[in-house]
Formats: sequence, structure tokens, C-alpha cells
Amino acid sequence: MIELNFSNMMEGVIGVSGLPESIIEDFIDKVKGAHKKIEERFWPELAFIDLISQDTPEIKKIAQEVKTESENFLILGIGGSALGSRAILEALSPFHNLQKIPKVFIYDNVDPRTLQQMLAIIDLKTTSVNVISKSGNTAETAAAFMILWDEMKKVLGRDASKRFIATTDPEKGNLRRIVNEEGLKSLAIPQGVVGRYSVLSPVGLLLSEVIGIDSEELLMGAKDIQKKCSDAELWKNPAYLFGTLLYLMDREKHRTIDVMMAYADGLKPFTEWFCQLWAESLGKQGMGLTPYPSVGSTDQHSQLQLWIEGPQDKILIFIRINDYSVDIQIPDVFQNMEGLSYLSGHTLSELIKAEEEATELALVKAGRPSMTITVPQIDAYHMGQLFHFLELATAFTGLLYEMNPFNQPGVEEGKNLTYGIMGKKGFETKRKEVEDHREKRARWRV
Ligand code: PA5
Repeated sequence: MIELNFSNMMEGVIGVSGLPESIIEDFIDKVKGAHKKIEERFWPELAFIDLISQDTPEIKKIAQEVKTESENFLILGIGGSALGSRAILEALSPFHNLQKIPKVFIYDNVDPRTLQQMLAIIDLKTTSVNVISKSGNTAETAAAFMILWDEMKKVLGRDASKRFIATTDPEKGNLRRIVNEEGLKSLAIPQGVVGRYSVLSPVGLLLSEVIGIDSEELLMGAKDIQKKCSDAELWKNPAYLFGTLLYLMDREKHRTIDVMMAYADGLKPFTEWFCQLWAESLGKQGMGLTPYPSVGSTDQHSQLQLWIEGPQDKILIFIRINDYSVDIQIPDVFQNMEGLSYLSGHTLSELIKAEEEATELALVKAGRPSMTITVPQIDAYHMGQLFHFLELATAFTGLLYEMNPFNQPGVEEGKNLTYGIMGKKGFETKRKEVEDHREKRARWRV
């Protein structure tokens, strides 16, 4: 089971920049109220909790077809419809494309250079395309889908549609309409589940099965952490503690940046997944902490100086790995050089754990708060725990801020202006706004 150690957030350990136990005690009633709302599914979008007991045979069946038919698996999606898949791929099958088939490609932008390069590498005749969009309407994903639809038709003719799998809303949206009209294979993202809380739905589970990861293991991990995080009592509930401590650091200590630093290369995309979850859920109404993704020990040589001596505005969240499953011993070479020989006989996992522990302590000594999530090992079971734990913690924190952690109203304006620029019907006034602004922004240039 993953474990949260929050000692380095406490006044008793780091001094005045830490939180006294009494502040947390005073918070217990508010936590009970939030707990009740989660139990009662205050927002329908809390439906992501029920993903832990979903059926997977259809996902497994489609994954088997992909594996039989295709050498490439191309995912089209953006935001919550892509970041979780990338996190699973990199954590559970690193260097996948150099070793295994189907190779996986994730196109989560509309950068023409990336798509051009992908299309130059991928043989579309042996490709399955998984287009993922909860709304079924997102412009970036729609554009990528339209291009792939056309390209696949060119090489496969009428058979092209058999190679598309749409993962989308069970009823609504343009993608569901195309599924119905063209008879595409499809998987449903359950009704209340929104993008950034959907990694443990068919969004992430189909990819898992395609790359040989048992989706049941991910769900089992999520189920087990759900049990642990169902306790109404704050001191026993790691998800509630995680949210409460970050909330209190923001409110009481004015720390508004939370850095997630994972001591595993394969978890870098996971930290990016977390950043989207946290930022899009909790950055609203002038509130929220800014998340930052990071990898140890690499970023000790890039960012740590700022975190230790820069502004007093950050909280570090370390992810520590107990067992890396493999290890490499540092050999007994250059024995007469003291500056190197102290490393001989130790292993890389010893060194990376020492780096993490030392960084924690350096921060403590500088009076900077941190928490550590210890992960027994990086496998599907514990990834399921990590995903579900942070989703629960994020939704819970939304309740503390008294904001809805499932919408993203701030993103809408940009979308509407894009529609205006691209000429979508009904968005003519948005186009006019853009044109007016173009005149203003033409003035100050060098
Ligand atoms: O978390 C979210 O809701 C968003 O990041 C969405 O995932 C993103 O905007 C893509 O939306 P959709 O899946 O509807 O295409």
C-alpha cells in the first residue's frame, strides 16, 4: 500500500513554517462535512469513485483485436483524454516502442510537425486508432481524427473504419454520433466521469491492455486505496490529510506552489498528469495552488536551489520508490580516487534513495515543508492506488475551497475565441473581438 508521510509539514519538525497540530485538529469538523458530501456523491462527477468496480471484458476484447490486427496503436486525445495514458505507458512500459508491438503513439496536440513526423514513421495499414474525447467535440481531437480518418481511408478504403475505436460519452457528442452512423467500435466513459478523472475508465484501461498490463490490477489498487480513504477520521485518511495540509499551507502560510517530485524517470508523465488534475480542478475563483512537475534526482541539479533558498512559497511532494524491482551495482573501479571510490559497492537504488532522503532533510533544515508518498514498487497495482488517491484528494480539496473541482470555466473563453478564429457558426462576435485585439497588439513591437 502507498503511504503518506507528512512529518515534514509539521511545526514540531520544521519549525514556524510548519503547521501546528492544533490547526489540523480545528479542521476536523470541516473534514467530516466534506466526507459526508463525498459519501452522498454531492457532485454527480464523483462517479469516478465507482470506476473501481467496472466490468472490463469489452475493454479486454477490443485490446485483443488491436493486438492481433495492428503493429501500431495511435491515441488521439488531449488533456484528461491523453495525460493518463501517457503516464501509464511511461510508468509501466518504459522504452515501449523500442521493445514491443503494438508500438504506441499519443498525439495530444495539433502541432503539424509532430503529426507529419508520426505519419512518416507509422504504417497506417497496420495501425489502430483510438480517438478519445469525453465531450466528442474538442477541436484539437476532432481535427486530428478528421485527418486520420481521411488518411486511413486512403490506405485501407472501406475497411478503415474497422480500425477506429472511439472512447467517448455513452450518448452525447459528435464522436458518439459518428460511432452510431459509421458503426465504429466504441467504449463508453461513464456519464458523470470527466476528463481528468477518467484515467481508470476505458480511457486508460484500453491502452493498458494493449501494452500487456492487466487493467484489473490497476482497479484492484484503486479499490484498496479507496477503502483506506473512506475513513471519516482525518488523521487516518491519507487523501483527506493530503488535501487538508496543502489547503492549510495555502491559507495559513501563504504557500501557493506544490511541486511533485518523483524519484523515478517513468513517473515524470505521472507528475504531469497530477499537475493537470490539480490545476484544472482547483485553480478558480482567484484561489488554488500552482502545481509543478519534477523528477529526482535530475531536478536537484536544476530547480532545488530555488526551492531551498528562493521565495518561501512552495511545498514539495516527494514520491519515493521502495523497491525499483531491478538494481545495478556501482563497480569497484578507480579505487585509489577517494572522490569516487566511496560509491563502489553501493547500488543505484541506494544512491537515488539517499538523494531523496538528503533532499528532504536539506529542505527541513531550511524550514521548507514537504510530504512524501512512498510507493512499494512501480507496478499496475500501485499505479492504480496513486491515480485514485490523488483524484480523491483533489476532489476533497475542492470541497475545502468550496469550489467545483470538476468544471473548467476559465478554459471556455479560449475555446470560444478559437471557434471565432476558425469560423465556427455562432461565434462571429468572438471573431470580431479577435480582430479588434489584433489591431491593439500590432502597436508595441520591436
Ligand atoms: O479534464 C478535462 O475535463 C479536460 O482536460 C478534458 O479532458 C479536455 O479538455 C479534453 O476534453 P474531451 O475529452 O471532451 O475531448
